[in-house]
Amino acid sequence: MLVETTATGLFKQGLGRVPLRSSSMLLLSTVHKRYASDVTVRTRNSQPIVRQGLSGRSSVSGHVATVFGATGFLGRYVVNRLGKRGTKVVLPYRCHEDNKRHLKPMGDLGQMVFMDYDVRNYDQILEAVEHSDIVYNLIGRNYPTKNFSFQNVNVDAARAVAKACQEVGVPRLVHLSALGAQQGSTSQFLHTKALGEVAVREEFPDATIVRPGTLVGYESDLLFRIGFFRKMLPIVNHGQQILRPVDAVDVALALEVMMDEESTAGQIYEMYGPKPYTYQDIVNICSNIFREKVNTINIPKPIMKAATGALQYWIYPQLSPDEVERMFIDQVPSTDAHVKTLANLGIEPRLLELTILPYIRHFRKAAFNDIGLDSDKARTFGKHHVY
Ligand SMILES: NC(=O)c1ccc[n+]([C@@H]2O[C@H](COP(=O)([O-])OP(=O)(O)OC[C@H]3O[C@@H](n4cnc5c(N)ncnc54)[C@H](OP(=O)(O)O)[C@@H]3O)[C@@H](O)[C@H]2O)c1
Repeated sequence: MLVETTATGLFKQGLGRVPLRSSSMLLLSTVHKRYASDVTVRTRNSQPIVRQGLSGRSSVSGHVATVFGATGFLGRYVVNRLGKRGTKVVLPYRCHEDNKRHLKPMGDLGQMVFMDYDVRNYDQILEAVEHSDIVYNLIGRNYPTKNFSFQNVNVDAARAVAKACQEVGVPRLVHLSALGAQQGSTSQFLHTKALGEVAVREEFPDATIVRPGTLVGYESDLLFRIGFFRKMLPIVNHGQQILRPVDAVDVALALEVMMDEESTAGQIYEMYGPKPYTYQDIVNICSNIFREKVNTINIPKPIMKAATGALQYWIYPQLSPDEVERMFIDQVPSTDAHVKTLANLGIEPRLLELTILPYIRHFRKAAFNDIGLDSDKARTFGKHHVY
């Protein structure tokens, strides 16, 4: 039986009397039409990319994107956004099968293409990028490991990805650096991130560089540590480091916008939240949400570095000496007029206080679990002190 799917067809079949909402009718009648806004033309190679559908599941964005570092914190937010719009996503991974399983249902069947690889194998990088019209490099690590130094991850791998993109003619490359990346920084992470930016630009001059502040989300180390060690949280610098946390959802949205926005090529974006906080401010906000005082103890820098240094080659260090060093460096956005922000992409970053409740609610006592940010209910909980 032939099924009519347009609004006119439904009317012909007598279904016009069914009270269809006007928006549904509009969707039904416009589903096959294309407009100029459905087309992106890559400036580098004039490749036209045509979108089909309404940008939801089962649509086709027309893009093929490779996401390096998709198994990390930010990766899942980015892949989810790309997959939702019907982008075919190539996902090079190096971990155990189970660590990337969550990415598979983020797109329609066949749209998530996994590829086992080693970032030191240049041929495998070439293979991963050769069919893509945009490549995101989210590879990064907060601490060196036995196999990979900061230089290996933040500079050599970044250069290899950029070089491969240039070699096969990928039109767009988006590279993730970090807010405060600076050559000569006392933090090796920030120093190598700056060297990585230079390496990427040497190989691929039109790369878009993104420097996020500390990312906040369900997987955030910053919030996890405060919650996990809330009975006795070791801090350094008396919690006076200035941070510019940004929600991972906002950064992922910005990276998605870059896929179609050709004017972002060759630009530098710094992505940070609307307000600066000291580390202690964030601890206090968390205290308020936990409904429990977070006790802090200030540890002198040399002692903290020695302690974390002894632990850093464990499989998953909670804190590395380099992170301790970074806790003495404020996150200050650049004053360079050429450096753009989330506002240039039309994105208003969200306020930390208003977004983190779901990320840390599970650290609360059961009695307070269902209380929202705007609720005064907790104050009636008798013996419990509310902060
Ligand atoms: N999180 C933040 O607060 C923050 C702040 C500023 C900048 N950034 C930067 O933003 C990017 C994304 O951050 P994130 O928080 O999502 O990082 P993440 O959770 O640490 O994930 C990093 C990703 O890089 C991969 N990776 C690390 N070393 C690798 C290696 N030697 N070979 C191949 N893959 C490797 C990891 O793969 P495996 O899963 O296999 O380990 C993972 O997929 C990174 O470049 C990071 O430096 C993050």
